[in-house]
Amino acid sequence: MENWGWEWFVKKFAQKSGIDLHSYKRPQMERRINSFMRTIGVPNYAELIKLFDENPEVHRRFVEHLTINVSEFFRNANHWEVLRNQIIPELIKRRTPLKIWSAGCSTGEEPYSLAIMMQEYFPGHAQRIWATDLDQVVLNKAKNGIYSEKAVQGIPAHLLNKYFRRDSDYQVVDSIKQMVKFEKHDLLADRFPGDFDLILCRNVAIYFTEEAKEKLYYKFAKALAKDGVLFIGSTEQIFQARELNLKSIATFFYQKIG
Ligand SMILES: C[S@@+](CC[C@H](N)C(=O)[O-])C[C@H]1O[C@@H](n2cnc3c(N)ncnc32)[C@H](O)[C@@H]1O
Repeated sequence: MENWGWEWFVKKFAQKSGIDLHSYKRPQMERRINSFMRTIGVPNYAELIKLFDENPEVHRRFVEHLTINVSEFFRNANHWEVLRNQIIPELIKRRTPLKIWSAGCSTGEEPYSLAIMMQEYFPGHAQRIWATDLDQVVLNKAKNGIYSEKAVQGIPAHLLNKYFRRDSDYQVVDSIKQMVKFEKHDLLADRFPGDFDLILCRNVAIYFTEEAKEKLYYKFAKALAKDGVLFIGSTEQIFQARELNLKSIATFFYQKIG
């Protein structure tokens, strides 16, 4: 029966959270929702929605569970080398300071990696980096800029010593924090600003349906300045790149042409 079934849940959840699950891959979402329900001992969607109303903390934990926010500093280090050695030097020849967006930034590792790279190798060449995510909880963590020993493992030692304050944890220094502006933004629903030289959207679209992904890349292509570059995740590919006036200039990097 559709009553209290998947469609009912998707509608109720959208009303409550503003997140439209229709744009996400259903089998993945169902698996995660079912595992959450098992963990908290809720038998069906109707009970889950009821619990969201009674207990906002459960709702918050659910959104966190659903949005899969694993991240890493300099994730896929070899792609960051391409960014540093090939992409950014070309971009700053054309325009400086660069306008940069880290979309789906999770707990901040990606935009902070970028800020550190810009500060260390291209000082003065970045405007404030706009870092956005759908999930307010991860954004709050990102703004704090405090990371565990395990989380900072991927950062080369000389950068770790220079750009983090060591306490019981590792705290991003203020000069790097000031380079990043965190804001809530839904890639499926909110307006995209334009004229970006560099957009990073990595490991976000993998959870979207093909249709949602197509729309997303169309909007990114529009949001790039001429010759601007889109940097995507290591399991991702843009099939309709040519139609969007995007050209692959290195694996996982697309440039807007024309
Ligand atoms: C796996 S993390 C990727 C983090 C980082 N980009 C990286 O590659 O390490 C995916 C992030 O996408 C965010 N996300 C999912 N749907 C989104 C949407 N519609 N708009 C904005 N962010 C979204 C999630 O909240 C999560 O923090």
